[in-house]
Amino acid sequence: MNTENPKSPRHRPPTIHWVGGVSGHLEILDQRKLPTEVVVLKLTTTEEVWQAIRTLAIRGAPAIGIAAAYGIFLAARTVSPASQSAALIDVIQTSGAYILTSRPTAVNLEWSIDQMTRIAITERGIGVRQLVKRLLSEANAICTEDAEKCLAIGKHGQHFIPEDGGVLTHCNAGGLATSDHGTALALVYEAHRRGRKFQVFADETRPLLQGARLTAWELQAAGVDVTLICDSMAALVMQQKKIDVILVGADRIAANGDTANKIGTYGVAQLAHIHKIPLIVVAPCSTFDLTLPTGEQIPIEQRPAEEVTSLFGTRTAPPDIKVYNPAFDVTPHKLIHAIVTERGVISPVTSENVRTHVDQ
Ligand code: MRU
Repeated sequence: MNTENPKSPRHRPPTIHWVGGVSGHLEILDQRKLPTEVVVLKLTTTEEVWQAIRTLAIRGAPAIGIAAAYGIFLAARTVSPASQSAALIDVIQTSGAYILTSRPTAVNLEWSIDQMTRIAITERGIGVRQLVKRLLSEANAICTEDAEKCLAIGKHGQHFIPEDGGVLTHCNAGGLATSDHGTALALVYEAHRRGRKFQVFADETRPLLQGARLTAWELQAAGVDVTLICDSMAALVMQQKKIDVILVGADRIAANGDTANKIGTYGVAQLAHIHKIPLIVVAPCSTFDLTLPTGEQIPIEQRPAEEVTSLFGTRTAPPDIKVYNPAFDVTPHKLIHAIVTERGVISPVTSENVRTHVDQ
């Protein structure tokens, strides 16, 4: 574990990266500690990766997808080079099923586990030693390509942010939720790089405050004009005409464009509709799940009651109170003005447009 001065986040450690070769280790920035401490965790086993995902040390759909790929590699490297490829494939399938139990909503986990498993099956002929190396290079590629996709996303969507405009965002869909640059925040960073002036309002995002702890922190560090608000203030800032566009990420997008994202997104989407403000969903193509016809079939993670009954270790509710704590909600596609991916923009959001875009 390595700690740094939290006052200089401009040069923060990467969200996630691999250090060394086959016998190296995974480093992640521990997001549970931000913004008060910058702590880097060193992970060497699949179980540690599972725990980091489950406890939100690493979070955000693309970032947990990348962590899952490294989790598979960490399992693969325990297989003896003297074994048959079939034994390695078996370990990969078992560890993939295990990692999938860490968090159920973001489809990016499934996407990268499938990618790693496919490599192992199609290239089984090269033998275990080479296959293990190949799996590390694939996990590294998933990590690097994620950052490249985010840059492309930013370029495709930056025009949604008007000069002198106001942007509202919910949760954290920034560099901390991806390999780098973010999804929703990639648009913000790109518009900022182009010299555009605008203001971002960040919802604090209860219960775990990803907006306050993470979005406010990373935007401030990047020199973006950011104002933190409580979730309950979103309606007012829209009514006061401070918001021109709403940018959010996604954890899973169904075939008709219905989108699961952090709890509270659906409420923001309803408010956006009433105030005639475009809601833009921003995500890589790996976040689409075309096997699900609508958002009704998206599994929604239920989180521990303590996240709602206490704040930073201090109890804020009576003992034994009943708690409902779904981590995500689903915004119907009719409330979404556009979806931006690394390939461009889907608008209007219809099943046909989604399929054409993702299948190309
Ligand atoms: O519970 P979290 O913090 O993992 O939730 C994250 C979100 O809901 C993000 O908006 C989503 O994963 C997109 S991240 C680019």
